[in-house]
Amino acid sequence: FDNGLGKTPPMGWNSWNHFQCSINEDLIKETADAMVSTGLADLGYEYINIDDSWGELNRDSQGNLVAKSSTFPSGMKALADYVHSKGLKLGIYSDAGNQTCSKTMPGSLGHEGKDAKTFASWGIDYLKYDNCENNNINPKERYPAMSEALLNSGRSIFFSLCEWGSEDPATWGKSVGNSWRTTGDIEDKWDSMISRADQNDKWASYAGPGGWNDPDMLEVGNGGMTTEEYRSHFSIWALAKAPLLIGCDIRALDNITKKLLSNFEVIAVNQGVQGKKVKSNDDLEVWAGPLSYNKLAVVLWNRSSSKATVTASWSDLGLKPGTSVDARDLWEHSTQSSVSGDISSELDSHACKMYVLSPN
Ligand code: GLA
Repeated sequence: FDNGLGKTPPMGWNSWNHFQCSINEDLIKETADAMVSTGLADLGYEYINIDDSWGELNRDSQGNLVAKSSTFPSGMKALADYVHSKGLKLGIYSDAGNQTCSKTMPGSLGHEGKDAKTFASWGIDYLKYDNCENNNINPKERYPAMSEALLNSGRSIFFSLCEWGSEDPATWGKSVGNSWRTTGDIEDKWDSMISRADQNDKWASYAGPGGWNDPDMLEVGNGGMTTEEYRSHFSIWALAKAPLLIGCDIRALDNITKKLLSNFEVIAVNQGVQGKKVKSNDDLEVWAGPLSYNKLAVVLWNRSSSKATVTASWSDLGLKPGTSVDARDLWEHSTQSSVSGDISSELDSHACKMYVLSPN
């Protein structure tokens, strides 16, 4: 999908995981303000994405989608201008069906050209395109229609396919959009998070500049997981080159959440080739992937219910025996020099360590 966007996985925020349908223009503006004042914008988080329920139940008399007057009274153009004035980008949501998933507004099926032009005229930069009420038409027909409409809209708009992985979108998504959901909806729970990580993992070879696997948005900061579970969630999403779309209320960031989302060394790992699970032994796992300059990103992850030592040997990582590396711990921000043979760590239940290994 050659719109020039998504050279690296997108970073930003989306309203759904925390706010569901309770959204309005003040929330979006305050979120844009917070993105800048918290320093997250400086780290690369740029998209402010509005999810479901931003529109009126029906189209206007000319068949146009309209912003809901009770919650977005100034309209989307004014909101986009505001978000752009902060140096950020505005995303919106529609559905490849007759109605969106909340059934509170129309979908874009059969109206792709008109709606893409509307979004472009508002200054929209990102479209998340959902899969409800779809008349059982194959997604391989419904999604390309919007893809083409966006290309003809006169504006570069990042296209996020939210097809939930039902028709293996990794295998065809790259020519249609910039990212594709590989899973159903994430919940703010450990079991949901690890199952999204695993379902997404098998499509690693399909991701690359311009098109990314999307295991769904981040739950970090929403309260349903422990700090170590959120650290694992963020580490694996970064390693898997997932979109880093924050899903908590960034107007009220606590220090722990801010530290997790602001780790620039982990974010730097996110911006390249998808890493994957390379070893799994009774819930003791090693995930790894290549970085530029022959460096390797490695996550040692204890998914078991008790404390345990997780080890990655050089053969697990594809390193030649005898290779000596400097191991940078991305959460401790410390470096162990001249490590050779393997790297291991004793980890609490559900905790992880994330490293960048640089061969000497
Ligand atoms: C679907 C999507 C979610 C969210 C909701 C909105 O479930 O997968 O990410 O957009 O719809 O209704």
